[in-house]
Amino acid sequence: MSTDPYANYSPGLEGVYAGVTTISEVHDDPSYLIYRGIDVNDLAAQASYEETAYLLLYEKLPNREELANFLDVLNRSRYLPAEVVAGLRLMPKTTDLMDMVRTGFAMTAPFDPDYEDNSHGGNVRKAIHIIARAPVLVAAAYRLRSGKEPIPPDPNLRTSANFLYMLTGEKPDELSDRAFNTSLILYAEHGFNASTFACRVTVSTLSDIYSGIVTGIGTLKGPLHGGANEEAMKMLLEIGTPANAEKWVRHAIETKRKVMGFGHREYKHGDPRARILTKVAGEVGKAKGYTIWSKIGEILEKVMLEEKGLYPNVDFPAAYLYYLLGIPISLYTPIFVMARVAGWSAHAIEQLDNNRLIRPKVIYEGPARGVPFVPIDER
Ligand SMILES: CC(C)(COP(=O)(O)OP(=O)(O)OC[C@H]1O[C@@H](n2cnc3c(N)ncnc32)[C@H](O)[C@@H]1OP(=O)(O)O)[C@@H](O)C(=O)NCCC(=O)NCCS
Repeated sequence: MSTDPYANYSPGLEGVYAGVTTISEVHDDPSYLIYRGIDVNDLAAQASYEETAYLLLYEKLPNREELANFLDVLNRSRYLPAEVVAGLRLMPKTTDLMDMVRTGFAMTAPFDPDYEDNSHGGNVRKAIHIIARAPVLVAAAYRLRSGKEPIPPDPNLRTSANFLYMLTGEKPDELSDRAFNTSLILYAEHGFNASTFACRVTVSTLSDIYSGIVTGIGTLKGPLHGGANEEAMKMLLEIGTPANAEKWVRHAIETKRKVMGFGHREYKHGDPRARILTKVAGEVGKAKGYTIWSKIGEILEKVMLEEKGLYPNVDFPAAYLYYLLGIPISLYTPIFVMARVAGWSAHAIEQLDNNRLIRPKVIYEGPARGVPFVPIDER
């Protein structure tokens, strides 16, 4: 190994392998994403979010009986302790929804029946509770912040439809449910992204899985990560019309303004999730008679590729898909949480099953040893 620490240093850990996983592979050139070996294209076309979560947790797709049992456990765990609802009610109405969701998960932990069981089995059971409660918590946080009462889940609806139902009390049409389900599958897992890595660092100290989830939420919030879907929609609203799109994006490039929902640390040849979701969002737009966002998207994609060699990432089509589904923008990143809890949980369990404390080195560039300590009265 080189004695020059800078030889081993990569800012942002870019290109550095920091672990081993069997959960998913994020591959560039050709760009693809697989969960436990299965291409997300196949999952997006044929699976439910629940089957995907099962795959991530149990390393295989469920058969009919296993899925029925899994759905049953999810349904029985889909509630929030009254104390948690009361706590969320106390938060200021100006609270960022991501902060409410983070707080909600932190408050829920001690009410988990497996709170003190950090065995593999206990962690899997906690993961299922977390996956089950996430949509209830996100919808409840949104409604409480808007001064409305939470709507209890409908046990006959799967995660995607149930969440949309808990937001408004109206069951979504089949196309909206299908499109939203696809987005949850695509958001469920993504290798060693910042929030998953942060979650693994937390549990590597032998802290608990809820602490890992809370860490993940805090990390996902930033606009360079999960927060990008909200920023992308605000940007699309600012652009407003297809006629304005080319001028807008060329000006953004000239003035070095970041175009949200474009670029990716790992995918330099396109994000496979964005390809799938662009198609889905296009279909929903056509069905709802509202194709403006797809048209703006096409123009942005063309110019960004020509001028910067950058492709859209998943957050770009997710943003306008959610807008087309009538979902308020402040919910986009919390929805990412609701899906990603499956990936975070799988990673926390994988980390704990074969743990080694994650503790890298840092290069010190401060003053050399020998700076004298000056007593307080002499400073
Ligand atoms: C995701 C992201 C942080 C990846 O960043 P990265 O791997 O560190 O790549 P860099 O920031 O080094 O970008 C490389 C070049 O592309 C440019 N670039 C990257 N993303 C850009 C974007 N969205 N808009 C405009 N330019 C962008 C950078 O300015 C840089 O240009 P330069 O070489 O002329 O300085 C970055 O692409 C970004 O900020 N995207 C917008 C936020 C977003 O959508 N995040 C969600 C990710 S899933």
